[in-house]
Amino acid sequence: MAINHPSFGKLADNRIIMFDTTLRDGEQSPGFSMNLQEKLRMAEALAELGIDVMEAGFPIASPGDFESVQSIAERFSKDGPVICGLSRTAPADILRAAEAVKPAARKRIHTFVSTSPLHMRVKLRLEPEQVLELVTSSVGLARQHTDDVEWSAEDGTRTDPDFLCRCVEAAIKAGATTINIPDTVGYALPEDMTRIFTMVRERVPGADQVILSAHNHNDLGLAVANTLAAIRAGVRQIEATINGIGERAGNASIEEVVMALRTRADAIPVSNGIVTQNILKTSRLLATITGFDVQPNKAIVGRNAFAHESGIHQDGVLKNVETFEIMRPEDIGLTQKNLTMGKHSGRAALRSKLHELGYELADNQLNDVFVRFKALADRKK
Ligand code: KIV
Ligand code: ZN
Repeated sequence: MAINHPSFGKLADNRIIMFDTTLRDGEQSPGFSMNLQEKLRMAEALAELGIDVMEAGFPIASPGDFESVQSIAERFSKDGPVICGLSRTAPADILRAAEAVKPAARKRIHTFVSTSPLHMRVKLRLEPEQVLELVTSSVGLARQHTDDVEWSAEDGTRTDPDFLCRCVEAAIKAGATTINIPDTVGYALPEDMTRIFTMVRERVPGADQVILSAHNHNDLGLAVANTLAAIRAGVRQIEATINGIGERAGNASIEEVVMALRTRADAIPVSNGIVTQNILKTSRLLATITGFDVQPNKAIVGRNAFAHESGIHQDGVLKNVETFEIMRPEDIGLTQKNLTMGKHSGRAALRSKLHELGYELADNQLNDVFVRFKALADRKK
């Protein structure tokens, strides 16, 4: 059913809202904090990437966080992303988030509370009924400041299913327009996503009138797989970060989700507004700002993601790139050819590399160079 969303209006059935939390969940990873100028640069890059919602920070966390959310909120017109501030359930928290996002042309307050038995008992020391009251009061207060309110069930994937449905129903009744069920501890399997989101859609009154959202952590290396499973189960918003940064093992990586959707549109036919050609530069900007490079074999944006060293692969790629590449490097903004010369490389790659460097060798010359190249590559990387 077409949803009429306060920030996005009538949304096409297959349109996925891309919610980026690099500046909030991402920034919470140890050693990844950014100053105001850095956050503003990142915010510009994220807007150019085409994200729909930018979670700019957690305003009550510190005066610096408040200031950066507010500055980012001032930055964009109504054609830019929705600017979102995170808050817990306390009125002071929500009011601080409301104040920070106030200058934004399009603003969202994202309020959350833990709903799993363990979190409620140990972390919150509250009974389930008290948590339900907090859901209603927090969403209600947030709604007094903006029509676009997201509610999250922290540790949602370890929450009792009946209680989760009651909380989601309370949040919708209080006015939430997006319902997010995070896999806070990275515990879920793809089939859990299917089960949970199908259950919410089938059992909760009003669930077809709000955006359901997935927010997956990567503790078991499943964040992207879980996010794709959630989309197949009907979620219309996914939350992710550039380079997959975030608490502990991180969040789902936005570039991996986007390129999986693009490459496998046959299996998951949905649309989004990401300008994929800006992926690599956004990833590199984040690495430069934080000082943390991605690992060389990181999918999509790692140095080796489009590199070929073995002779058989290089030969195949030179004949037809589709032999060993499922995506075009230029689709993520990578323009130069990526044949890495090493001890596994073959004659065809060496000839191509020499051609790139301006040398055309006869076969006997190439043989000679090839022998000397292999001897050198055996000694050096
Ligand atoms: O992982 C999580 O549960 C969160 C919430 C605050 C949405 O980041
Ligand atoms: Zn998170």
